[in-house]
Amino acid sequence: MDQKRAERKYAHLDYAVAMEGGPRSSGWDDIQLVHQALLEYDKSEIDTHLELFEKKLTMPVVINAITGGAPGLEKINGALARMAAKFGLGLAVGSQTAGIRDKKVRPTYEIVRRINPEGLIMANVSAQVSPDDACEAVEMIQADVLQLHLNGVQELIMAEGDRKFRGAAENILNIVEKVSVPVMVKEVGFGISQEAALRLSRLGIKALDISGAGGTNFADIELARNPKKNLEFLRYWGIPAASSLLEVKKLGLPVTLMASGGITGSLEIIKALALGADVAGIAGSFLKTLVKEGEEALDCKIQNMQEELKILMLISGAQTIRDIKKLPLVILGQTRKWCEQRGVSISGYSCRHI
Ligand SMILES: Cc1cc2nc3c(=O)[nH]c(=O)nc-3n(C[C@H](O)[C@H](O)[C@H](O)COP(=O)(O)O)c2cc1C
Repeated sequence: MDQKRAERKYAHLDYAVAMEGGPRSSGWDDIQLVHQALLEYDKSEIDTHLELFEKKLTMPVVINAITGGAPGLEKINGALARMAAKFGLGLAVGSQTAGIRDKKVRPTYEIVRRINPEGLIMANVSAQVSPDDACEAVEMIQADVLQLHLNGVQELIMAEGDRKFRGAAENILNIVEKVSVPVMVKEVGFGISQEAALRLSRLGIKALDISGAGGTNFADIELARNPKKNLEFLRYWGIPAASSLLEVKKLGLPVTLMASGGITGSLEIIKALALGADVAGIAGSFLKTLVKEGEEALDCKIQNMQEELKILMLISGAQTIRDIKKLPLVILGQTRKWCEQRGVSISGYSCRHI
């Protein structure tokens, strides 16, 4: 087993649990839905179900890529898979390179499919791996979707990280052609710009997770593992999650859009969907609850999340998940300024109606 890789995985978990998000703001606070006093439905009529990648979800939430690949990590992935199965959520595993290199740690990933045989499960590898390795990651957990992560900032801080990025687009194209499932490209908390999204969409990918700044901060995590005063500025780098989503949505690309970065509850979920995301991804917040308070607390949190989402839908006038995308909303503060300067027209959001 690669001892260094295992230690890195444990350290990522420890720091992600111990650290607060930020210092950048995610921008979700700048997005305001409009209260509709004259309620139109009974609470029992509110429907949070949806279909994503031909699988049924009870709520528009994916437990985003976190971990796997070192002894003991099947405990975390097992608990997350139980939650995904019980509540009908999607689930992505953490990067599977360790499982591709070393068969002994495969059970730490395979457990998610064992526990959740019918659910929406996403494989995860770096966008830099070979097409054969990408296929192996999909087969390992009979994944429905393959996530390819772009994590340049993280790699550049890591002493052992990659420094060669040339050819990444061509490699994604080759992976898309070789794997049998839809490919989603994701960031890991620094956001996707409209320029990057446009280039990625030409490579045949089927989905994007904008994974913007404001939640888990991998610059912070890597600098805590390996302090480097000269790279401290990277803690402030990245596109805030809400701004990244608005930038990418504006392009109207034919891809499924996942929004992640600093999403902790139903208010951010409904805002992300109202801005045009098809589903929300949550990593850090679920991990913190699981590790600090245990599986029962996470169970309770997700149960409450669904109830809260129904309440929010009711008081903003949406009966279904599809309705959320047509809700009027107001964009304030830094997110508004960002959009003005990046050519994202936001006037359409405030006066639309279902
Ligand atoms: C401990 C930890 C490990 C992660 N490992 C991966 C990974 O292996 N692959 C990946 O694509 N993203 C990884 N992520 C990033 C998340 O999937 C997500 O994009 C990012 O944390 C932003 O979401 P959040 O603010 O809800 O945490 C990891 C996140 C955490 C907290």
